[in-house]
Amino acid sequence: MTDPKRRPRGKKPDRPRRQIEREFGVPVAGEILDPAQWTHVAALKALPASGPLDLAAVFGRVAPLVVDVGCGNGRFLIGSAVWRPGHDHLGVEVLPVVLRYATRRANQRGLTNVRFAAVDGQRLVRDLLPAGSVSELHCYHPQPFYDPAKVSLRLVTPEFLAGVHRALVSGGQFFLQTDNPGYWRYVREVVPYFFDFHERIGRWADAPKGRTRREILALRRGLPVFRGHGTAKVGLGVEEARRLAETLPPPAFDADRRLQQLDRDEGY
Ligand SMILES: C[S@@+](CC[C@H](N)C(=O)[O-])C[C@H]1O[C@@H](n2cnc3c(N)ncnc32)[C@H](O)[C@@H]1O
Repeated sequence: MTDPKRRPRGKKPDRPRRQIEREFGVPVAGEILDPAQWTHVAALKALPASGPLDLAAVFGRVAPLVVDVGCGNGRFLIGSAVWRPGHDHLGVEVLPVVLRYATRRANQRGLTNVRFAAVDGQRLVRDLLPAGSVSELHCYHPQPFYDPAKVSLRLVTPEFLAGVHRALVSGGQFFLQTDNPGYWRYVREVVPYFFDFHERIGRWADAPKGRTRREILALRRGLPVFRGHGTAKVGLGVEEARRLAETLPPPAFDADRRLQQLDRDEGY
């Protein structure tokens, strides 16, 4: 008689296959769960017409907040939410189609600590984030906008930086990255007025193949990626930062149309 506890030689026990999603061959953090375990909270629909967000009501708890402005399909924020369950995460975007990818990804992983909203990043930091509420604010590959008629749409302006400065908690971190040399020259010129900012040499240790979709694409094409992070300047008050922003130059840099192909390929 065969012992029912003994498996046939060489046969491994059946284990449910983990569903790992890949983007350009690079795994997206977490695992796609059985649909019965999906959450349905990632899309943040109701935003206040004016005044700040009630973050405790949005997340149902009080926890350090990580924000990604121009979050695209959410790759960075999903990873952070998977690896840091004790942090809350908010991603904003102006393109609803990419936000749908991001919210689906969060829900498929059963995450409860991430929300995505269709909001302009300028409005977010100016009106919606309470002062001193954000532990980390990330901004990866803001669009350079090559057409001179669209230069006014560039996200990183002195006003935006004053808003980020206002939103961060004391000691909170601002992360910024681009593959556009003109944008980076501008960043180096204005960001140090608001932040003790350090350029990073080399890739992020947690994601050497790229924290975001755009970073992965840029690296695959051999483009340089410029990265940095810093803390809000101590002693610079909210009003002072606002007034300072009015004196600084707008982002009128030449984005170099020869670099436009990557944006075209991504459908921007
Ligand atoms: C080049 S993509 C980068 C996306 C993502 N951060 C990444 O690195 O893969 C720039 C994103 O910023 C979004 N965006 C542009 N202007 C914005 C704004 N004012 N507020 C929020 N998002 C914006 C665009 O819709 C686009 O998805």
